[in-house]
Amino acid sequence: MVDIKLDTKYTNIAEKEIIKYAEQVKTIHNELHKRADNKKDFVGWLNLPSNCDQKEIEKIKKAAQKIQDDSDFLVVIGIGGSYLGARAVIESLTSTFYNLKKTKKAPIILYAGNNISSDYINDIIDIIGYKDFSINVISKSGTTTEPAIAFRIFREMLEDKYGIKEARKRIYVTTDGKKGALKALAKQEKYTTFDIPDNIGGRYSVLTPVGLLPIAVSGINIDKLLEGAKRAQDKYMDQNVKYNDCYKYAVIRNILYNNDKDIEILTTYEPKMHYFTEWWKQLYGESEGKEGKGIFPAGVEFTTDLHSMGQYIQDGRRNLFETVINIKKYKFDLKINMDEDNLDGLNYLAGKTLHYVNQKAMEGTIQAHVEGDVPNIVISLDELNEYSIGQLIYFFELACAVSGRLLDINPFDQPGVEKYKTNMFKLLKKPGYES
Ligand code: PA5
Repeated sequence: MVDIKLDTKYTNIAEKEIIKYAEQVKTIHNELHKRADNKKDFVGWLNLPSNCDQKEIEKIKKAAQKIQDDSDFLVVIGIGGSYLGARAVIESLTSTFYNLKKTKKAPIILYAGNNISSDYINDIIDIIGYKDFSINVISKSGTTTEPAIAFRIFREMLEDKYGIKEARKRIYVTTDGKKGALKALAKQEKYTTFDIPDNIGGRYSVLTPVGLLPIAVSGINIDKLLEGAKRAQDKYMDQNVKYNDCYKYAVIRNILYNNDKDIEILTTYEPKMHYFTEWWKQLYGESEGKEGKGIFPAGVEFTTDLHSMGQYIQDGRRNLFETVINIKKYKFDLKINMDEDNLDGLNYLAGKTLHYVNQKAMEGTIQAHVEGDVPNIVISLDELNEYSIGQLIYFFELACAVSGRLLDINPFDQPGVEKYKTNMFKLLKKPGYES
């Protein structure tokens, strides 16, 4: 198993600049680790890989097996941190056309409760048709409007289809262990329930049942995912930024931000990582965008977006930097064959693999963007697999917390999200919000 690797040479930031942050990083490291086991704080994700409750993992696997056995579809209901992590891992590690390739072993996974579009919900209802399905509703607060509405609709559909008794056996609730409307409902209806630890907030919760149940249903090996995260936990224990790539990433972001590079673009060359980028955007956007501060997280998929956003990145406002995910090896690489006529002029690539061409596109793009004053940070994965994604998740979570503390904001709350809710509730005349 190979570790993920950070390469900072395309940032032009000298090590001595990074080392200047050593004391500050050490203080943040100690502060986070002191808070990690406090049940009332939000740093529970820090020791999660090593603290993993094996009984809970077995319960997740058992539920996943039942869903695989009795369902053609799993409707995963959740929003923000209660859905993006699962989707990020599932889409990164399964076939691009997973949902078209459905096998008896792995049900099609559909995501609901992440928007309020009628068309979207109707399309899910339509695609499920007369087939068998189960629901995993995920909400820590248990009161978020979007998933609550979707759950009401799909619960009714399930009850109409199977009757209340059988429907109960097809509903899996992931929520707070004690409080919230969803917890109360789950208790009353005796649904199978998974607890979200008190001290882990939504966007840091992918390695709890929030992410692990849907991920296990899709057939991904959750033990290997956790093993990767555990490796990262051990590796990034060093409080010295000089020897800790995760802290280096956090510091470099901060140095770039202080040099007016206030937009970070996560760049991938693998379309399967689209939702990984969405997860990353939420993690950093919701954690850092506060008090008038924070790097704006954006994402591009190359080479696709080189034909759209590439122009801006090369030539537009110079307030950008990129973090590039480099996948070094592919299990099943495709070779480009020789063509006698060569009418397309591609014979110069004969014998080369697609990955080789993709790598040259990446190298050429990094060079062009760096020359265009867009610093690049490169994170290399040996292969896209459970182990590397587990590491990457932990790497980004820890770096995000350290980055947020360097900015002197609280990376674990999201007060700004309440504003739209209050306005919407007033407009909807929700009891308590009329005035
Ligand atoms: O990261 C967060 O805390 C948020 O994005 C939440 O995950 C999101 O708002 C959903 O909240 P809940 O799980 O309470 O429904």
